Amino acid sequence: MQVKIVKTKEEMGQVAAMLIAEDMAKKSPYVLGLATGSTPVPLYEALIKLNKAGKLDFSTTITFNLDEYVGVKPTHDQSYRYFMNEKLFDHININKKNTFVPDGMAKDIDAHCAKYEAMIRGVGGVDYQVLGIGSNGHIGFNEPGSSIGSLTRMVKLTANTIKDNSRFFKRAQDVPTRAISMGIGTVLRCKKIVLVANGANKVDCLAKAIEGPITATVPASALQLHPGVTFVITEDAAAGLKLEW
Ligand code: F6R
Repeated sequence: MQVKIVKTKEEMGQVAAMLIAEDMAKKSPYVLGLATGSTPVPLYEALIKLNKAGKLDFSTTITFNLDEYVGVKPTHDQSYRYFMNEKLFDHININKKNTFVPDGMAKDIDAHCAKYEAMIRGVGGVDYQVLGIGSNGHIGFNEPGSSIGSLTRMVKLTANTIKDNSRFFKRAQDVPTRAISMGIGTVLRCKKIVLVANGANKVDCLAKAIEGPITATVPASALQLHPGVTFVITEDAAAGLKLEW
């Protein structure tokens, strides 16, 4: 496990983007795993900059997103598909047919999840997976208690997450209570992983994930089992680490 500590979230984005860009130069087609949330935005901005400067080509890139809300249409402005189009796909030379986000409107969710796993395996697996981390240590929508071997499946959102999300939806009945998420086992199968984090609210979960015991109560601690993980985190978020990294 590597931990890179940087000063600003812009630097966090640039460092993570360079890790991905260097690996992308070695292989085509390339399979990229993506996350939503506020943290990866500077990383996506850095990838867009490299693409616009002609230094990074997405024309043959295939992407798989970690998660999506159940019951939210891809056209809804709170869907993760919408987020990805707005923050990344609309600004780079990617073929949108090669971008995959779990379908929260799928009729048979279990079959869709099994197909999503099969599609990832079918293209040879994810080459680089981008992750953020929740302040409770979650990765994707794998909340504390998720098993380390879990695969893509439907998950129930915790009361806390539902409450946090309610501000983004007009009516209470529209707030999603379930999501589809790649599992921790799905993430551990990716060839390389970069986890980005910034902000003081991530101090505790990062200290537990990086230096604590591997436990289902801190889903990100499972990343200690993976040989190719890099954490790119800002100084304020790294304040709880005790070891020299
Ligand atoms: C989103 C995802 C989540 C977020 C996490 C952190 O696809 O997988 O695990 O990465 O909730 O969110 P932010 O970056 O908004 O703090």
